Amino acid sequence: MNDLAGKHIVLGLTGGIACYKAAELCRALVKEGATVQVVMTEAAAQFITPVTMQALSNRPVYTSQWDGREANNMAHINLSREADAILIAPCSADFMAKLLHGGADELLSLMCLARPMDKVPLLIAPAMNREMWAHPATRRNVAQLQADGCTVFEVGSGEQACGETGDGRMLEAQELIQDVVAFFQPKVLSSQHVLITAGPTYEAIDPVRGITNLSSGKMGFAIARAAQEAGAEVTLVAGPVALSTPRGVRRVDVKSASNMLAACVEYARAASIFVAAAAVADWRPAAPAEHKLKKDGSGRTPALEFVENPDILATLAQSPRAQSGDLYCVGFAAESQDLLDNATAKRIRKGVPLLVGNIGPATFGQDDNALLLVDTTGATEIPRNSKLALARQLVAEIARRIEH
Ligand code: CTP
Repeated sequence: MNDLAGKHIVLGLTGGIACYKAAELCRALVKEGATVQVVMTEAAAQFITPVTMQALSNRPVYTSQWDGREANNMAHINLSREADAILIAPCSADFMAKLLHGGADELLSLMCLARPMDKVPLLIAPAMNREMWAHPATRRNVAQLQADGCTVFEVGSGEQACGETGDGRMLEAQELIQDVVAFFQPKVLSSQHVLITAGPTYEAIDPVRGITNLSSGKMGFAIARAAQEAGAEVTLVAGPVALSTPRGVRRVDVKSASNMLAACVEYARAASIFVAAAAVADWRPAAPAEHKLKKDGSGRTPALEFVENPDILATLAQSPRAQSGDLYCVGFAAESQDLLDNATAKRIRKGVPLLVGNIGPATFGQDDNALLLVDTTGATEIPRNSKLALARQLVAEIARRIEH
């Protein structure tokens, strides 16, 4: 992963126990390809040493506005001019209050005030006790910082270092890195609401057995993440999969195709884009047994009868909102051969403006894939790449098509 390649991040640390997480965050930023310049307040240096942060960032740390290493002795100007973003993590309640008033009595706040606001975004990851976070003063400060153009990341919830439980602790490094990566993605789907299906479905035979397939859900989850990064509100209707929910995505877990259809019909009312990435079972047992089917000793096998499942994509594609252009529907086709012909025919059969073809056995469970996009004008190949990279390209292709 190199999602921050070429980005230069000034990582500011202020006083708080969450400074220990900043070490891991620094490492994660570097792993994503960013160069990191650490700036610490005096209070931050009470919690973690500049030595640790220097070793992790591979650059000397700045702690004072009087740092003689700068030829012009203007660290606050030089550091802020080089940055693609200033990320303050952890940002204490006190430091938020200071930023808000334009305080500038030490290097980090001085640098934030001196930064060119149109070129260098300020991102902050608050970290504090739950009472401090809930205090009206902090609420006001968060609102004002946002109004001033600052991006305030969410806080985590749970057990705090002080022993209390509630909102206010800093997000984990792995969560923050996703938020930082998302911040830099182009917001091509802002004001859109995207509904996505992902994973397999599970069709019960009896209370303990069922029929499913090998879909891992990775592609649908990657599309959900990419759509969220692109600024959309995202609802992800997921069959049974072992994947964690992408940040900022509303997840609705379902089992069978019928459950999936019901959830999709409900959430499609508010959606503007529908992407059907799930591998929905085509058939289900006609009459699932109420109790576990038992061997009777005769060697006879149970006779299973099947009925066809509803076609979720076709149902939504034929809905009045889709027909009037308010819901843009995108289908997937997992084929084993003749991808172009099969995908072209399937697009017409399903009645969707865009169909994404892939070779089933080459994608199920894999981390990468290749896609063939088929629309009314022809076919476009998206060459083999990670599912997240493909999902970002697909999101860009969808955005381009709904603009016209
Ligand atoms: N799909 C759906 N509901 C179903 C079956 C499929 O929403 N009951 C959606 C899938 O999510 C995918 C697309 O339809 O976006 C294509 O599914 P696929 O199973 O590949 O196509 P089929 O219609 O089943 O055609 P075939 O079995 O001939 O390949």
